[in-house]
Parts: sequence; C-alpha cells; structure tokens
Amino acid sequence: TEQTYIMIKPDGVQRGLVGEIIARFEKRGFKLVALKLATPSKEHLEEHYKDLSSKPFFPRLIEYMMSGPVVCMVWEGLDAVKTGRAMLGATNPLASNPGTIRGDYALQVGMNVCHGSDAVETAKAEIELWFGKEGINQYKLASSSWVYEA
Ligand code: GTP
Ligand code: MG
Repeated sequence: TEQTYIMIKPDGVQRGLVGEIIARFEKRGFKLVALKLATPSKEHLEEHYKDLSSKPFFPRLIEYMMSGPVVCMVWEGLDAVKTGRAMLGATNPLASNPGTIRGDYALQVGMNVCHGSDAVETAKAEIELWFGKEGINQYKLASSSWVYEA
C-alpha cells in the first residue's frame, strides 16, 4: 500500500496542533508507521526542499523550517499521497477550503502548518531522507477490517 511523508512544521508544533493533525489522519483510517520530533539541520532541510532552491522565498522557507522542532510522520493507506495533500489543503491557506488543515488553522503561505509529499516518487525519497531504510514499522492495524472493504 501507499505511504506518504507528512510533517508538522514549527508553527504547527508551537501552536499546539500536533494532536489535532495526528487525530485527523488516524480518524480518516490511515495507519501511522513512523513518527518522531526532530530539529533538522539546514543541510537536511535544503535537501528536503531542493526542488525550490531557485525560488526567491527559499532562504525564508529554510529559516522558517529551522525556527523550531518539526514532527515527522509516515502515514500508510489507500491513495495516501493524494488524500494526504487533500487533507492539508492548498499551499496558500487563504485558498485552502475550510475543513482542510491549512483551511482551518492557517492564513499565510509562509506559516502553513504542515507539509505533505506531492507524488508517490517524492514520498519515497522523503521517507528515505527523514527515516532511512530501517525507520518504518510494519504491523497490522486492528481497525483495518472496519476501514477497508473485504
Ligand atoms: P509543502 O507540503 O510544504 O511542500 O507545500 P506545497 O507542496 O503545498 O508547496 P511547495 O512545495 O510549492 O512549497 C513548499 C513550501 O514553501 C510551502 O508549503 C510554503 O511553506 C513555502 N512557500 C511556497 N511558496 C511560497 C511563497 O510564495 N512565499 C513564501 N514565503 N513561502 C512559500
Ligand atoms: Mg511541496
């Protein structure tokens, strides 16, 4: 099944949204397979956001992401990458629908609370970058037979 990398950004941690964001993924039916609080290095964040390195906002983005610890998670389940993005909402919170995480808890693009992988291939690279090859847990979630059709 599909896995996605979801990260609660420093503003999400500081604003006490960790439990709320985890709860949304749990309640949706996704399975948590990796979780940690981390204070990543500048180099690590530059690698994570390397596709954006030429953007004018890149230095500000890295500074933002270094402003406090982040919560790193891997969630597994049906169409996890696309569904995770839908649960986060649009990049710019003012354009995010109410009911999404950004649409409920954020106002500006430079303080948008959470990250989610944008494609299956990106997710694989991000999971490897943040958790390595060994960091993912394998187990059966007891509720899965009440989430997925037989
Ligand atoms: P992530 O899930 O964090 O990757 O966001 P995204 O995929 O919705 O957007 P994208 O990858 O294009 O940008 C990564 C992050 O850079 C965004 O989530 C914002 O935090 C930040 N960002 C993007 N565009 C801008 C911008 O125009 N100004 C500022 N200050 N930050 C931006
Ligand atoms: Mg992105």
